[in-house]
Formats: sequence, C-alpha cells, structure tokens
Amino acid sequence: MTTIIRGGTVVNADRAFRADVLRYGDKIVAVGESLDAPASAKVIDAGGQYVMPGGIDTHTHMNLPFMGTVTADDFFTGTAAGLAGGTTTIMDFVIPAPRQSLIEAYHTWRGWAAKSAGDYTFHVAVTWWDDSVHADMGTLVREHGVNSFKHFMAYKNAIMADDETLIKSFSRAWELGALPTVHAENGELVFQLQQELLKKGMTGAQAHPLSRPPAVEAEAANRAIAIAGVLNTPVYIVHVSCAEALDAITRARANGQRVYGEALAGHLLIDDSVYRHADAAYVAGHVMSPPFRGKQHQAALWHGLQSGNLQTTATDHCSFCAEQKAAGRDDFTKIPNGCGGVEERMAVVWDAGVNSGRLTPSEFVRVTSTNAAQIFNMYPRKGVIAVGADADIVVWDPQGTRTISARSQFAKGGFNVFEGRSVRGIPTTTVAAGNVVFHGGALTAQEGAGRYVERPAFAAVSAR
Ligand code: URP
Ligand code: ZN
Ligand code: ZN
Ligand code: ZN
Repeated sequence: MTTIIRGGTVVNADRAFRADVLRYGDKIVAVGESLDAPASAKVIDAGGQYVMPGGIDTHTHMNLPFMGTVTADDFFTGTAAGLAGGTTTIMDFVIPAPRQSLIEAYHTWRGWAAKSAGDYTFHVAVTWWDDSVHADMGTLVREHGVNSFKHFMAYKNAIMADDETLIKSFSRAWELGALPTVHAENGELVFQLQQELLKKGMTGAQAHPLSRPPAVEAEAANRAIAIAGVLNTPVYIVHVSCAEALDAITRARANGQRVYGEALAGHLLIDDSVYRHADAAYVAGHVMSPPFRGKQHQAALWHGLQSGNLQTTATDHCSFCAEQKAAGRDDFTKIPNGCGGVEERMAVVWDAGVNSGRLTPSEFVRVTSTNAAQIFNMYPRKGVIAVGADADIVVWDPQGTRTISARSQFAKGGFNVFEGRSVRGIPTTTVAAGNVVFHGGALTAQEGAGRYVERPAFAAVSAR
C-alpha cells in the first residue's frame, strides 16, 4: 500500500515548491508535480496546505525518574502527543545516576522507550567520571549509535557534572567524534541562592526564578564555551533562555567557534509573569529550569533564531501533574522541575514565528527539523522531504486554528503552559515512518511502532 500526498506545497529548509509526495514502505519514493500513483494508493489531499518534514524535538524527558518522582508522560503517551502536534522524532536523554554504568542506564532507557509510538534517539548524560565512563562512551558511540553526550552543570548533589567531568568528557567526546551538550546553569550558585531564599522564609514557588537569574545561566554558558574552546571541541547548549547566554554563543560563533544553541518553545512564548500568579499550583506548574524570563529575553531568543545563532527549537517536555508538583508546596526546591510542550511546539513556533513574519516557512522547517537532523547526524534520513528520506511528514494547514488547552491535549499531566493560547497554523495529517498516525484530529498512534534512531559519529575519527 502506498500513499500519495497531492496538491500541496513542499517546504524544505532550502526552498518551497509545488509537488506531490509518494510514500512506499517507510520511505519517500518520489517528489514531483502530478506524480503517477497506483490506483490502490491512499490519497491525502494537501490542497492549500504545506507538506513539511516531521518535527524533531531535540530535547524531551519521557518516563524520567527525577526529583523523587517520574514524569507523567511515558514514551508512548509522550511520543503520541508529539505525533498529534507534527513531531515525528524525539531526542530524549539517558540520565545515569552518579556511579551508575552508562551502558546499564542506556539499556534501561531503551527498555522504557520500546513502547514509543514515534521515532526516538538518545543523548546520554555524563553525570560522573572514571575510566569506566571513558570506556562506556566509546561503546555507546561505536556500538549503539549515540553521538551526543549531555552535561548538567546544575542540580548539585544529584546529577551535576563538575569541571573535571566536563573537561574529561568533552575531550573524550572529541576523540569519538561525538557532540558534547550542556544544561548551562551554575549549580553551586543555584544551590547557595536557594538556601538564602529558604532562610529568608521565601519557600513558595515564586522564589524559584530568584534562585536562577540570567547571570547563573550566562556564567555556565560562558564556562562551557571556554572549556570547549580550549579543547577545540564543538558544544551545543540546550534550552538557552536568556539574552546573556545567547550573547555568549553569538560572541563565540563570531570568533569562529563551533557553538550551537537550542531555544525552547516555552522560553520563546512565555514570560516570567507566570511566577507572579496568585495560585500557587499554577506557579508550580511553571517551575522549570532555566525559568521563564522577562519579555526582553524572548525578543532576544527570536533574534537568535532569525540570525542563525540559535539553530534548533525543542520543548524539554518533562511533565508533572499537580499532585507531583505539590511535593514542593512548603519548599520550592522540592518542586519537580519541568513543563510539557511536545504536542504544541510546532504550532506555537509557527504562530508566533511565521505568522508574525519573524520566520519564513523554510526557516520554520530549518529550526523545527532540518538543523536538528544535521547537527545530530540524522540527515538526510530525517529533516527533509526528499527521495530516500524517512516518510515522516506533516501536512500543515496555515489557516487552521486551534485553542490550546490541557482539557483537549493528548499529553498527560493535566496542565499546559500554553493554556488558552489560540494558534493559526496546525497539523492536519502526520505521517510517521510511512503510517498515517494523526488525521483530522484523530490520533491513531501505535504503541511500539517507533524506532530507535542510531546516529553515527561525526567526521573521520580515524584521522584523530
Ligand atoms: O526543568 C527542567 N528543565 N527539567 C528537566 C530537566 C532539565 O533540566 O532539562
Ligand atoms: Zn549494549
Ligand atoms: Zn536542563
Ligand atoms: Zn531537559
């Protein structure tokens, strides 16, 4: 059985053009005007719509055990929610506990992820260091298709990587042709600010952003970039939330350093007024790190995407329900950090990006899919509508509208940081690995249908 998507405008990162798209098996087999298709082919009418590569969310946490609980979305519900929003691949994180073997953690996450409805791949966190970590990084790159390693510069007394770990791991990643990535916040500074706030009696969720001001993020971003510069490694900074961290990236790139930055849909759209809301549960629902920032930071992040100094958009989808957030009712440092968004990213970035004229449709494709595929070595299997690419396709109605609400979302957790926001530009059909998994509002995602995506190492490592 083949599928033909007829009459739409294909949008790739480099150009947009009128074409039909023919799918056979899990691949795109033809792209062109007025294509012939077998009489038995399933026809999807894309008249008046865009046909784009499925979204890649470079940053999610499904089924994550974190801060004493486990995220509301598992790999099935989380990837299914992504498919409903036009995201066909997620990049999730294996996060070994300190002293835990990386390989053991990797296999644990692979087990959890087997129920995914959409394709998935893993960054692996380096949370501690010894010779076994050095060896395991090699095994992960050579045998398991891992080409990016994550370092949390925050979360002291838990998963924080100290400078020794950063330096040794960045060097090892370079040897292996893998990309080091960082959560840039100075974890010691966060810890000390948290203790001071608690001592002053500021125990509520409103204190969360005060413990993580922009300078905390900027210091870590500058430090990671400096370490990467000395070691001559590239570095990718996840969830860049503030102008100061973006400035560090922009400066380094202008100096010729290979530094990448990721913006979250939440940080692009939501400002810090959410922390001044009277309802403590509402405030706790917005507790994530780095926190939401003042409006001037959102403007800076959009400029980062427009200028190319930020390359990807993600969500950091890490949802917790109200009962889980309530664990920190009397101590904000115990509120599980994280918010959702995997289902909404494409629509809110389109609405605020393309409808406003900040991004062209091709630039939208670049920052929601193509750049991620290229930076993390999945291109051209992912990130493009072309012959031979995976049939991961979203048919996009630029005039379709929707009002976002936790009441109608597929994701779990019962909360939505984009609650009440109306968007124009929505997916009408999502095709993942050749299967129609979302059409006309109905989600038909299949548990276990997602595939693990191996990502080979970069460059000719043998030359090093
Ligand atoms: O608050 C957040 N971002 N939670 C998820 C873990 C992380 O730091 O990415
Ligand atoms: Zn193995
Ligand atoms: Zn993070
Ligand atoms: Zn994260």
